[in-house]
Amino acid sequence: MSRIVLGVAGGIAAYKACELLRRLSESGHDVTVVPTANALTFVGEATWAALSGRPVHTAVFESVHEVPHVRIGQRADLVVVAPATADLLARAASGRADDLLTNVLLTARCPVLMAPAMHTEMWLHPATQANVATLRARGVLVLEPADGRLTGADSGPGRLPEPHDIAAVTTALLDDPATVSAVRARDLAGAHVVVSAGGTHEALDPVRFLGNASSGLQGIALARAAALRGARVTLVTANVAGPLPNGCTVVPVVSTADLAEAMFALQADADAIVMAAAPADFTPATPSTGKIKKDGHAGLGLSLVQTTDVLAALSVRRPRPQIIVGFAAETAADDAELLALGRDKLVRKGCDLLVLNNVSGGAVFGRPDNAVTIIDATGPVASAQAGKSVIAHRIWDAVVASRQEEIQ
Ligand code: CTP
Repeated sequence: MSRIVLGVAGGIAAYKACELLRRLSESGHDVTVVPTANALTFVGEATWAALSGRPVHTAVFESVHEVPHVRIGQRADLVVVAPATADLLARAASGRADDLLTNVLLTARCPVLMAPAMHTEMWLHPATQANVATLRARGVLVLEPADGRLTGADSGPGRLPEPHDIAAVTTALLDDPATVSAVRARDLAGAHVVVSAGGTHEALDPVRFLGNASSGLQGIALARAAALRGARVTLVTANVAGPLPNGCTVVPVVSTADLAEAMFALQADADAIVMAAAPADFTPATPSTGKIKKDGHAGLGLSLVQTTDVLAALSVRRPRPQIIVGFAAETAADDAELLALGRDKLVRKGCDLLVLNNVSGGAVFGRPDNAVTIIDATGPVASAQAGKSVIAHRIWDAVVASRQEEIQ
């Protein structure tokens, strides 16, 4: 169980922080809410106290004998500020200590994550951008706001990222300290990465398809992790189950043929491509244009043809330098067999890195965790048994290392 301080600044998006608080508490974290006085005009103290099960203070001179302005920050494992308004960013950047939340920010020695929310003009104002740059230079992790509908009729960057997204980032930061340094370094800034996720559907007729059990969770975690590390991200989604991450351009596809077309179109402009999707290897030779009827048929034979191997085709046509990553779920008796199968597949597919997992012990599909070994042409470069978001960061670590080798 981790101790999280949830700071809430005075913006209309404060109501979304209730959902974030519920998610963090339900994940078993001990959450102390520190709203600003203005935040309480949007959501009252009773709501924060009831949802967190803890007393709520906003001012420094409350419960002074407990020295909360020092103790709350010092004891935290992570401080999350959502929403972080333009005013809160300005006060934090200039080191003010005029309420309990800014005191907490000055005394915290743990990672601090801020999720800004404000009108587009305020976000894009040079003063706000300078404050964000100052905070980032000091190691504060400042998320990009989401782009979309704001309060009133306005639309643009400035929306609070969805609570599920902030909660997922929080989990990644708490689960693995290496993630914090990678996000602070923004080591994918300036890169465009393309990630595919999910399982393709191959139409049998207008209402039926052949599919597979891929949930897309690993690909979604990869996209979220890359955006957090500063990359421009395009996420090609094949029938994914999970909610999608903030800050990515999403290209939905259905079949392996659609996926191939989308990936080939995106390839020229990509610095790295990760094929986390599970494309069908076979597709019906001639899908029926009308619904297949059962009357008059005792059984049904299917004639299937092979699909394009998207990963292998991407590797053949790749512009240099471009890092291409594949996945391979194998049923191997032991690690040696897994590595041998992986080495074969890496050569066959022509990719730079292959993320291997042994699925002989049971299904990984739809589960939040995974056990993988990442290999390149020389052998294993990393292995991890962890949540999919931690694995996503280890994959990007390997991509960043390969990019550096490629560029040198
Ligand atoms: N892949 C792909 N296009 C396909 C099938 C697979 O791009 N038509 C990609 C997957 O996204 C994954 C990698 O290839 O990154 C490995 O998938 P896998 O199913 O293990 O590869 P196969 O070539 O189908 O090998 P096997 O015969 O072992 O199933």
